[in-house]
Amino acid sequence: MVNIAVVRGDGIANEVMPEAEETLLAAAAAASFSVEFTHFDWGSERYLREGRGMPEDAPETIREGFDALFQGAIGDPRIPGSIVQEQVIMNMRNGLDAYANVRPCRLYHEDLTPLKGRGRGEIDHVIFRENTEGLYANVGGIFKRGTPDEVALQEEVHTYKGVERVIRAAFEFAERHGRRKVTVADKAGGLKFAGPVWRRAWEEVKADFPSIETNAMHVDAVAMELIRHPADFDIVVTENMFGDILSDITSALVGGVGLAPSANLNMGGVSMFEPVHGSAPDINGQGISNPVAATLTAALLLDHLGCAAAAASIRGAVEGAIEAGERTADIGGRLSTRQCGEAIRRRLA
Ligand code: NAD
Ligand code: IPM
Ligand code: MN
Repeated sequence: MVNIAVVRGDGIANEVMPEAEETLLAAAAAASFSVEFTHFDWGSERYLREGRGMPEDAPETIREGFDALFQGAIGDPRIPGSIVQEQVIMNMRNGLDAYANVRPCRLYHEDLTPLKGRGRGEIDHVIFRENTEGLYANVGGIFKRGTPDEVALQEEVHTYKGVERVIRAAFEFAERHGRRKVTVADKAGGLKFAGPVWRRAWEEVKADFPSIETNAMHVDAVAMELIRHPADFDIVVTENMFGDILSDITSALVGGVGLAPSANLNMGGVSMFEPVHGSAPDINGQGISNPVAATLTAALLLDHLGCAAAAASIRGAVEGAIEAGERTADIGGRLSTRQCGEAIRRRLA
């Protein structure tokens, strides 16, 4: 029996998460893998009610009581700024020390890519995003607030330990999954302080994995080459903000954020799983959001907990539904969120 904590989240997360949960349970049951969900009401509604989106000790609750956390998007247009995202997303990623944000990106059907002439198999890569440091350390401050002389300082943090462990996690993942190549995307030729830390960790870690092909590139060049020559990339490891941006770019190569899953891994501890997309206020409440990103996120969770059969059956079902045109509007279909979830479940092996 595995115990999974679930935070449905905000906006369209309340449409897509129930579909993904139902599919996860169905796939697990078919594989005789028993799963129990415990739901938490963390997010924007709770913030509006109580002034805090999540209790201070929530990461401890997850670490001590659960095998994993499955979390939907957080963010609400009624709450300006980043307060609820800080309280719920960042505090949980940091509190679990979920330092490796793994964002796979695979083309499920030729007609989903805006790149001309690219087939399945030509776009299949994984972004490894450092998930606890960089600009997201939120070190800084505001000086002369609200005046014409206002100064905002948002410092980047790059610790050798933090950089080394995410690069190592990327190589270990490559070895485990039979991936051939790891590329580091940094800004060594521009950032005087962060650059050398990234390149030193890179050189030291890659020496431990002689059978894996490697490449060190600047992140701006990676952004261009991902579009020009996507097949050149397999695993890309990078810092927090670069990874946030690159993972939206790569999702666009395969159909958009409606299809993009992600895992926030702590290699020795409890991990959390969230789709890449947000709460999508522009389509919230219409029942047309795509449940595939959350559903493929559930597959990552099952893989991580050792139920590869259930994970593979979810991916196969998603692929079959897409192939058959059983899709939501964002990827050219006409199904509602619910109908899309049902179409996927009908196809579970
Ligand atoms: P978004 O991902 O919510 O939306 C970007 C675009 O993608 C929109 O046009 C939206 O309609 C579309 N989209 C997103 N998910 C979709 C889905 N499942 N099916 C179909 N279309 C989908 O990004 P945003 O607009 O920048 O952010 C909205 C809110 O979500 C903000 O509050 C932001 O902070 C938050 N957010 C949270 C997370 C998270 O919790 N991990 C991630 C990203 C954004
Ligand atoms: C993501 C999101 C978050 C991030 C935001 C909502 C804080 O964009 O998960 O990609 O930047 O990490
Ligand atoms: Mn993002």
